[in-house]
Amino acid sequence: MDQNQLKKLVGEKSVEWIEDGMIVGLGTGSTVKFMVDALGKRVQEEGLNIIGVTTSNRTAEQARSLNIPLKSVDEVDHIDLTIDGADEISADFQGIKGGGAALLFEKIVATNSKQVMWIVDESKLSQQLGSFPLPVEVIPYGSQKVFERFEAKGLNPTFRKNADGSMLRTDSQNYIIDLHLKEIADPHTLADYLIKQVGVVEHGLFLDMVNTVIVGRQDGPEVLE
Ligand code: 5RP
Repeated sequence: MDQNQLKKLVGEKSVEWIEDGMIVGLGTGSTVKFMVDALGKRVQEEGLNIIGVTTSNRTAEQARSLNIPLKSVDEVDHIDLTIDGADEISADFQGIKGGGAALLFEKIVATNSKQVMWIVDESKLSQQLGSFPLPVEVIPYGSQKVFERFEAKGLNPTFRKNADGSMLRTDSQNYIIDLHLKEIADPHTLADYLIKQVGVVEHGLFLDMVNTVIVGRQDGPEVLE
């Protein structure tokens, strides 16, 4: 199976955890896209009654096209389960997210969820975080100053751009600075530093947040809890 097939495998497997009546956080990305398709099928074919809370405009558009009922995070009093992808997961279940620039809403939805599940193909697993560039969402005003601070600290920042060279904007119209770190020895210390920087809205370190990971392997999905 290629990477896309592994993503499909875990996306389809993950909807087995969704039960009638649940409020479900719907992540963002190419793996989640398969999960939302499979969820839409259950809604349509089984009459599964759920409410989705989306983490990006992209996912909201897909969910609406499949007639999945949606509410915003502020309209629900809890979220039972959030299913999302990840860019890198360490051996101790810490994660980097935000490759799809949706980290802010993803973290808001995840931190308001009773259970969080990540669905990944096996290429996303690593011993130590850092091989995937760490996204940091910053407000545009003063972002050059934040960038320079990161540069002075040796964090190897780059602004994320669109294919045409323009600055990428998140759903909240912010910028993303990617930190090319190679290794993150102490994710908690780095997370504390990043969130204290004025102008930083959120970062892509998702620490102590996940309950279940479904990994797409050649011989089938592996559930890690
Ligand atoms: C988006 C994310 C995604 O979950 C992450 O980038 C994984 O994406 P994909 O499933 O396409 O590999 O964090 O902000």
